[in-house]
Amino acid sequence: MSPPNHLAGTNHNSMTITALETFISEAAAWSRKRTEPADCVLVLAPLMLDLIEHVDTFLQPQHYRSDTGTYTRNLIYKALDESLSLYALVWLPGQWTPIHDHGSWGVVGVVEGVLEERSYVRLSPDRGADNGIELVRGGIVLLRSGAVTSFVPNPDHIHVTGVPPERPRAVSLHLYGRMMSSFNIYDIGTGTRRRVDIAHNES
Ligand SMILES: [Fe+2]
Repeated sequence: MSPPNHLAGTNHNSMTITALETFISEAAAWSRKRTEPADCVLVLAPLMLDLIEHVDTFLQPQHYRSDTGTYTRNLIYKALDESLSLYALVWLPGQWTPIHDHGSWGVVGVVEGVLEERSYVRLSPDRGADNGIELVRGGIVLLRSGAVTSFVPNPDHIHVTGVPPERPRAVSLHLYGRMMSSFNIYDIGTGTRRRVDIAHNES
């Protein structure tokens, strides 16, 4: 099997990229094959569960970069046609996303610490509208190292993710069905959402 496209930052020793290479190849194949996002994540979540057992074989120091100002997104892989992307996210204590959705399916695996997800539920019926949005707070999920979660779009998966100040750093892998270079953020006070660009570090 030839190495996946844009596997920058990995050690191109066949012994050390096998787990990631296998994961990317299978993810790309299933992503192409399955038209329903729910079918994609059904297959890819167990593959992520396997992948995170082998992070020591492919995560490099650059994938653990962090920033005291905000959580950090470090690119591990992107498909040439931008149909898939995989990131290592590093969450220092007290760092959170805004309230957001992704407009994509996604699979998340935690490799260090405890990642917290706080859910929101959209009550307003027109789920495509960018205003007149009524959100209520939902439950939380605590994902320890070794845990995997996933989401699908439409209706949007709306949440906040991060680490409270009293917990140590968390690191998680995030696979998406597109380049995740923008997402929708919500303003509860005004009942609106807007698309914003989000940064990442190249490997
Ligand atoms: Fe998210």
